[in-house]
Amino acid sequence: MTLPRPCAASAASPWPARLDLLQALSGLALALFMWLHMGFVSAILISADFAWGVARFFEGYFFLPRPQAWLVSAFVAAIASLFALHALLALRKFPADWRQYRIAARHGGRLRHGDTTLWFVQVVTGFAMFFLAPVHLYAMFMHPDLIGPFESADRVWTGGFWPLYLALLFAVEVHGSVGLYRLAVKWGWFEGRDVRASRRRLKWAMWGLIAFLLTLGLTTLLAEIRMGIEHAPRAGERYVPTWQRGATAAEEAR
Ligand code: HEM
Repeated sequence: MTLPRPCAASAASPWPARLDLLQALSGLALALFMWLHMGFVSAILISADFAWGVARFFEGYFFLPRPQAWLVSAFVAAIASLFALHALLALRKFPADWRQYRIAARHGGRLRHGDTTLWFVQVVTGFAMFFLAPVHLYAMFMHPDLIGPFESADRVWTGGFWPLYLALLFAVEVHGSVGLYRLAVKWGWFEGRDVRASRRRLKWAMWGLIAFLLTLGLTTLLAEIRMGIEHAPRAGERYVPTWQRGATAAEEAR
């Protein structure tokens, strides 16, 4: 008599685990990128000249013979590809039909477990980003030279981007911080001897991060809205840094 092969699981594909790892790594890279992104965008809170310098830096203004805005487009394309890969991998985890959705919702309701609720938060904020992020990325890809104090403020206010940025800000900061918390729990990062105490600390860190990033993001957005309202009558005019203004005025007078 031939017996069935002892363990079908031992022949199981390693791909689900590999895809899980890829999802974790792409999410980690995106979350870390968003911290840097917040730093660059909030440069406007220091000064308009500083924000102009940060924007021009990425075009190679300070180290190439001529600024190359396409460098920014290339970087946007790389981030957009990473975003698409992460979203594609995440699709595997979405409830696929109404029945699966009902089962997931029923389990969630019954369990009343904080971390399960956070999983639903990830699904909702991730779904929102599917629609919101591509609009922003496309604008950045097509107009990489139109990044700067007046240029960004005009897009935010006169160009009507502020409601999109407001919704995207909440979605991305909650999604990114909850994602980092879930990664830390899953891989046992920062885990001490007392697992419950470590998890409580991680959750505090997650809420602290969300509060910090949302406060900084909202302050930045308000600054851009204010500048956009003031600049609306001259919308489209490019920003010239203070140290170049004398030279520009002299050139115009000639
Ligand atoms: C390399 C890719 C990216 C570039 C070059 C970029 C650039 C910028 C710039 C210049 C602004 C200021 C507003 C403006 O000029 O329109 C901005 C704002 C914003 N971006 Fe991005 N971005 C990138 C990727 C992303 C991604 C992947 C997300 C989220 C999924 C994102 C979310 C946001 C949000 C929420 C704001 C508003 C922030 C605020 O005012 O507090 N960005 N971005």
